[in-house]
Amino acid sequence: MAILVTGGAGYIGSHTCVELLREGRDIIVVDNLSNSHGEALDRVAEIANRAFPVYIQDLMDREALRKVFREHRIEAVIHFAGLKAVGESVQLPLKYYHQNLMSTTTLCETMEEFGVYRLLFSSSATVYGMPDQMPIREEAAIGAINPYGRTKQMIEQMLQDLASSDPKWRIAILRYFNPVGAHESGRIGEDPSGMPNNLLPYIAQVAVGKLKEVAVYGNDYDTADGTGVRDYIHVVDLAQGHLKTLDKLDQADGLHIYNLGTGRGYSVLEMIKAFEQASGRTIPYRIAERRPGDIGACFADPAKANLELGWSAVRGIEEMCADAWRWQVANPRGYAGSVAYAEPI
Ligand code: UFG
Repeated sequence: MAILVTGGAGYIGSHTCVELLREGRDIIVVDNLSNSHGEALDRVAEIANRAFPVYIQDLMDREALRKVFREHRIEAVIHFAGLKAVGESVQLPLKYYHQNLMSTTTLCETMEEFGVYRLLFSSSATVYGMPDQMPIREEAAIGAINPYGRTKQMIEQMLQDLASSDPKWRIAILRYFNPVGAHESGRIGEDPSGMPNNLLPYIAQVAVGKLKEVAVYGNDYDTADGTGVRDYIHVVDLAQGHLKTLDKLDQADGLHIYNLGTGRGYSVLEMIKAFEQASGRTIPYRIAERRPGDIGACFADPAKANLELGWSAVRGIEEMCADAWRWQVANPRGYAGSVAYAEPI
């Protein structure tokens, strides 16, 4: 029996594939490579020293997806695939609603058709919008404030309806906080296309000299140093959370929601300092205007995942920055700068 991983070539997907393979699980990846590189999958196979089937196709291609389910005995699906840029979602909302919702409904319909009822869904702390409590517990009110976040929220609601409609479904919704870092090998990591939107990849590109300085979006928040505080979590810890969740679904019926975060927040200035230490470089920065839609602080209460999954994040901020830096230095142009692993040199 195998685990189907959608979006397995992406940042979190590729790290989760490595952990699944290391645990001896069989995997099958479906990815349309719209925002990722096939090279990432070659490197996953290289790290794990194991090959696995890869299908380069869109989840909305129902016939092609049926073929995957026909060709393999699938026990569960981890669904990472989706568009994820907040700013782009504001400019192109229909693209986000169409792609994220249609691909997930097609996936769930196909699962039902083939009698596969276990699903892990990549959600995000973004569904909490402007949280009314801190740290944030899973019971907090949800209310995403941008189209990207609303697609995550709508899919969550759809999955809740699905789980209520048929007790055969076992579904986990995983709300990620801020994934950072890279695999310790430096072979896979985050490879944003174009200008990075997120803080850590931006800092890394400043450190390597690709970008001039970090714009710190606001220093007048109600936080210790005035800059935004987030719950950064090492992507390998996050990936391991998926394995624990698969184990949980072996025992638990119904739908379960978990925050995957560390429970500890760091400010923008603390992250810059930690990255300076990890890289040995000075990171120039300037204080800029607040970014519209940002909140001052956002961090998880991960107690439910700790207790029910037996999982907690163990990698600290030094390791997050050191691993991100190793990846950045070894791959200054991301995957695009590499020669395909499988190609003869
Ligand atoms: N920041 C800067 N300068 C930058 C980029 C970010 O100061 O160049 C600050 C932000 O203002 C914020 C912090 O760094 O205080 C983190 O910003 P990110 O963009 O890295 O992360 P966000 O918390 O804003 O958003 C992330 C993901 C979303 C996801 C959300 C979940 O990008 O997709 O976490 O809470 F939905």
